Amino acid sequence: MENQDLVNQINQLKKEKNAIILAHYYQEPAIQDIADFVGDSLGLSIQAAQTSADIIVFAGVYFMAETAKILNPTKKVLLPDLDAGCSLADSCPPEAFRAFRNQYPNHIAITYVNCSAEVKAQSDIICTSSNAKKIIESLPTDKGILFAPDKNLGNYLIKETGRNMILWPGACTVHEAFSIDKLIVLFEKYPKAKIVAHPESEEQLLLMSHHIGSTSSMINYIKNSMDDEFIIATEAGILHQIKKEVPNKILIPAPVKQFTTCACSECPYMRMNTLEKLYLCLKNETPEISVPENIRRKALLPLERMLSLSC
Ligand code: 13P
Ligand code: SF4
Repeated sequence: MENQDLVNQINQLKKEKNAIILAHYYQEPAIQDIADFVGDSLGLSIQAAQTSADIIVFAGVYFMAETAKILNPTKKVLLPDLDAGCSLADSCPPEAFRAFRNQYPNHIAITYVNCSAEVKAQSDIICTSSNAKKIIESLPTDKGILFAPDKNLGNYLIKETGRNMILWPGACTVHEAFSIDKLIVLFEKYPKAKIVAHPESEEQLLLMSHHIGSTSSMINYIKNSMDDEFIIATEAGILHQIKKEVPNKILIPAPVKQFTTCACSECPYMRMNTLEKLYLCLKNETPEISVPENIRRKALLPLERMLSLSC
């Protein structure tokens, strides 16, 4: 089917089934354009918590759709490709996380939303890159903190908040793929450019950056900046939204250490979703996300704590 036919069919099915499409900024442009809401992890969680739709099609990765299901047990939550995982979530297996927690029984466990429902269920509070600083600052100062699974975000937050956290040694393969050496060369070529980075990136890159924030925060910074040139260190899908918001600004993807499928940085998991898979999943109402009820109930609490500090 042609793209325009898929778009027409998806819009028709959406109406018939009272469905909503939530898409992350890392989705391919065609998916972002057909979505009812495009956002960062926090924005998407808030939308998922508030929607009155019967079906949520989550154009993102597994942990995002799972989060929507935890918040909406009675709704059908669909993910166009069930294999759309996350290297960061995979770096923190639930059993190993349990052993880690047991080593520090009196510490508060704050976990980044990029983790499985089982890990969320063992956590005290969840955060995203949008609200992590605020959430850490809300915790009692006499308590130790465990932070999982992203060590780069964790290190950045230690500096930002001055809180001494014990970090899980996980990382995102996409954000660790940026090359500092190539970035230095690129910056020499564009000395007026502002470097804008996601905090999942490595420390050296963050030290060179003019702005560090979640995907939404990066977009807002570029939109509101008086500058015209930006080097962007995150997944390349974000460029689509930024181009829509500020078509005249010059956007340069940060260079990666080794080229894989492209010279920029695409998340292989996010890119598993396609417009055709989205159409098929809405039509057939599968693949559907399910979370065992005992895990869902335990994971809901730390998520609700996060949302109450974020809305
Ligand atoms: P954001 O919450 O900033 O959108 O980040 C999600 C993500 O997976 C980054 O790799
Ligand atoms: Fe996970 Fe990294 Fe992909 Fe984000 S970019 S979904 S953290 S693998």
